[in-house]
Amino acid sequence: MRFPPAIVSIVFFLILSYSSLASSVTKKDFMYKGSSLLVEDYGSDLLTSPDETFACGFYQVGTNAYSFSIWFAKSAERMVVWTANRDHPVNGRGSRVSLRRDATMVLTDVDGSIIWSTNTTGTMVDKAELLNTGNLVLKDPSGNILWQSFDSPTDTLLPSQPLTRHTKMVSAMAIGTHASGYFTFYFDNDNVLRLTYDGPEISSLYWPNPDFDVFTNGRTNYNSSRIALLDDMGAFLSSDRASFFASDMGSGIKRRLTLDYDGNLRLYSLDESTRSWTVTWEALPRPCDVHGLCGRNGVCTYTPKPKCSCPPGYEIVDPSDWNKGCKPKFNRTCDQTQQYGFVEVPHTDFWGFDLDYNPSSSLEHCMKLCLENCSCEAFVYRLTGEGTCYTKSALFNGHSASDFPGSAYLKLPRSLNLTSAKAATPTLITSDPDCGSNKADALIQVVGFSRMYNTNNRRTRWAYFYDFVYAIGIIEALFLASGWWGLYRRGDGVSKSMEDGYRAISSQFRKFTYAELKKATEVFKEELGRGGSGTVYKGVLKDDRVVAVKKLGDVIQGEEEFWAEVSMFGRVNHMNLVKMWGFCSEGTHRLLVYEYVENESLNKHLFSNASDSNSNSNRGARLLNWKERFRIALGTAKGLAYLHHECLEWVIHCDVKPENILLDNNFEPKIADFGLAKLSQRGGSGFQFSRIRGTKGYMAPEWFLNVPITAKVDVYGYGVVLLEIVKGSRLSDWVMVDGEEEADLMRFVWVGRNKIDECDDDDDSWVEDMVDPELKGQFNKQQAAKMIEIGISCVEEDRSKRPTMDEVVQALLQCECED
Ligand SMILES: *[C@@H]1O[C@H](CO)[C@@H](O)[C@H](O)[C@H]1NC(C)=O
Ligand SMILES: *[C@@H]1O[C@H](CO)[C@@H](O)[C@H](O)[C@H]1NC(C)=O
Ligand SMILES: *[C@@H]1O[C@H](CO)[C@@H](O)[C@H](O)[C@H]1NC(C)=O
Ligand SMILES: *[C@@H]1O[C@H](CO)[C@@H](O)[C@H](O)[C@H]1NC(C)=O
Ligand SMILES: *[C@@H]1O[C@H](CO)[C@@H](O)[C@H](O)[C@H]1NC(C)=O
Repeated sequence: MRFPPAIVSIVFFLILSYSSLASSVTKKDFMYKGSSLLVEDYGSDLLTSPDETFACGFYQVGTNAYSFSIWFAKSAERMVVWTANRDHPVNGRGSRVSLRRDATMVLTDVDGSIIWSTNTTGTMVDKAELLNTGNLVLKDPSGNILWQSFDSPTDTLLPSQPLTRHTKMVSAMAIGTHASGYFTFYFDNDNVLRLTYDGPEISSLYWPNPDFDVFTNGRTNYNSSRIALLDDMGAFLSSDRASFFASDMGSGIKRRLTLDYDGNLRLYSLDESTRSWTVTWEALPRPCDVHGLCGRNGVCTYTPKPKCSCPPGYEIVDPSDWNKGCKPKFNRTCDQTQQYGFVEVPHTDFWGFDLDYNPSSSLEHCMKLCLENCSCEAFVYRLTGEGTCYTKSALFNGHSASDFPGSAYLKLPRSLNLTSAKAATPTLITSDPDCGSNKADALIQVVGFSRMYNTNNRRTRWAYFYDFVYAIGIIEALFLASGWWGLYRRGDGVSKSMEDGYRAISSQFRKFTYAELKKATEVFKEELGRGGSGTVYKGVLKDDRVVAVKKLGDVIQGEEEFWAEVSMFGRVNHMNLVKMWGFCSEGTHRLLVYEYVENESLNKHLFSNASDSNSNSNRGARLLNWKERFRIALGTAKGLAYLHHECLEWVIHCDVKPENILLDNNFEPKIADFGLAKLSQRGGSGFQFSRIRGTKGYMAPEWFLNVPITAKVDVYGYGVVLLEIVKGSRLSDWVMVDGEEEADLMRFVWVGRNKIDECDDDDDSWVEDMVDPELKGQFNKQQAAKMIEIGISCVEEDRSKRPTMDEVVQALLQCECED
């Protein structure tokens, strides 16, 4: 039997492609001297354990940032259990892990610099191997282990991996990162196994319960062997008598003990059917008992999930990093000029930093003690017994719980106007009746989705959710803790999709440092444009993305507010809106980073032939044909409709004009500068514009009346642009007519109205005179007529007669295909 050659070759091709697929992941059991793993093959070039539970190789930790890690290969998401270079990720090109001929295993970065290495130089090591326990070992030819990853745990302990006097576990900085955070699990000098927060300002022990002594906590400090071990059954035993057991005790289950980034120590089991992790034990059932969680002056609250917030009279230092806590909104002085009062924060305790402790003290006496002592910043009054007074020299480890039998009383200057302290706290959510609720929703969704990769210190940080807490009455951030998330949400599928969302959005939007942007723009060398809101420069990011960097001129906002506002724009995602990739907020610098749009702005093309005072550089400008013009009109309308209706109702552009409509390489329009009106107009009451914005000629008449501004100002601006697209020249220019200033627009509209009225519906010959003569008759009459009609209705003096942007889109769509 003979097959036709075509079939033979197809079959051959299939076999070939199948085999090449199958071999695309190379699972190695050993790594021998002289061999390497390359970062370029990070997904495929792996060292695996014989039972394939664990894999080891390069792991992506950020945009172009990789670590050398070991992870569970069997869980749905890669669960990293060990990392060689957690605080020093390497480049995505040219980095490698090699077992050198001198017996050292080294991780080198793109420039060849050694980021990490083992201490086995000159030994008999001849191969590396990943054991079924998840231990990466270097062995000599007779099988002796000369180095093992178990000796340097990161945030996770695996069964059979001992914790000793030489090792400790350090939490990750934030969810999704592996960089070192501030929480530690270790044997203290007195032989007791502890959890501690070791932050930039303080360190504080929080497990076992710091209110009790070692023996009350069921521990001992007499056994100095300092060794603890988790076994395969799920039992953890320590030489200080600390012990705990997984709720699913038994063999055959994959387990890990992880010090999560929220400071809680949790034991997890892998559910092999769903390939997900469940918590089977945790050190602190109440997450707010973790010290240091909310930084200095910060308070952890259950709502019911744990969140951080600042008490009255204090404000957040860095919304992206709660470790920095809150700072007072006043200067604490000790002279007699400053009068102090107290604000009660109910059911709240600040642990530690007691100046003094007075049992059986009245509240008045406690106040007096705190007022008299200059070092006193607050006191906690417990209602147990006759009342106990703790005066505080500093506020750390704050937490609020409805069952806490007492309150914190903050000593604040009277000049702060304590009665209005709550209301006067700057909030991200204004009480704007029209926009309030929408905005709050938007915030909750958006801000939580901005993940920041700070390349400066090479630490990835997660931003946190924002929400509004009525109890304290200020904006606060919620920790989206992996553990908390896991406890509350694991298994119901929400967390997974949320995290996917996280990743998708986060990869695009982040905070940049000023130095980074200075470098990207070569110290703001190439200016792309200049406008009322700032100057735009071209730049190239480290990952080769070309960007437009806008330096804002008149932003009066604080960093916190700016950050929140801008994060919202980061979420706006529409093909007709310029994508924002990030921002920078450092000192007085406020910059926005946008995608770079190829073909400059609409005015350059539209008015290239006419005398246009604003277009001094017309490189690459060309006459737009009719199809392109229609597409630009429609796309711009869609972008504005999205801003007004679909996305976030409160986004009014306020400066719609051809200069703000950019064209990509397909001449698809992208609206720039939306939302800027908000950034520079804040600080007043709600969403009132304190001064006129926009550009003369494109501004609706109501700007000059004392009425609230609505989205109809954009409809007006769009109307002018639409008519200019048809006419091919500026209509917004003002000319002197009989000694009075008048816009070309008015004459155009006047002529247009008359012509439409004069003619029958079927007769559209009038259109000829009104369309750009440069097109030489090459245009669609029906479309042109419709556009003129729409344009005229958009520039109605009475804004209630103007259509909405949604209606404009609908009207344009109706005549889209009629050519
Ligand atoms: C390498 O370091 C580990 C842990 O510090 C130690 O136990 C081991 O003996 C060292 N190996 C060599 C060859 O120095
Ligand atoms: C100290 O702890 C180790 C490990 O748990 C144990 O084997 C040893 O018996 C303990 N020593 C004493 C004196 O209890
Ligand atoms: C606190 O003092 C500093 C420096 O003396 C000053 O710049 C700042 O404005 C003061 N803050 C308040 C709230 O008074
Ligand atoms: C404040 O109280 C502490 C503890 O009682 C005391 O040591 C300190 O001297 C007091 N400071 C002042 C200024 O009274
Ligand atoms: C304190 O704030 C309230 C509410 O904002 C205001 O009515 C009152 O006049 C303020 N008092 C002082 C002394 O500023």
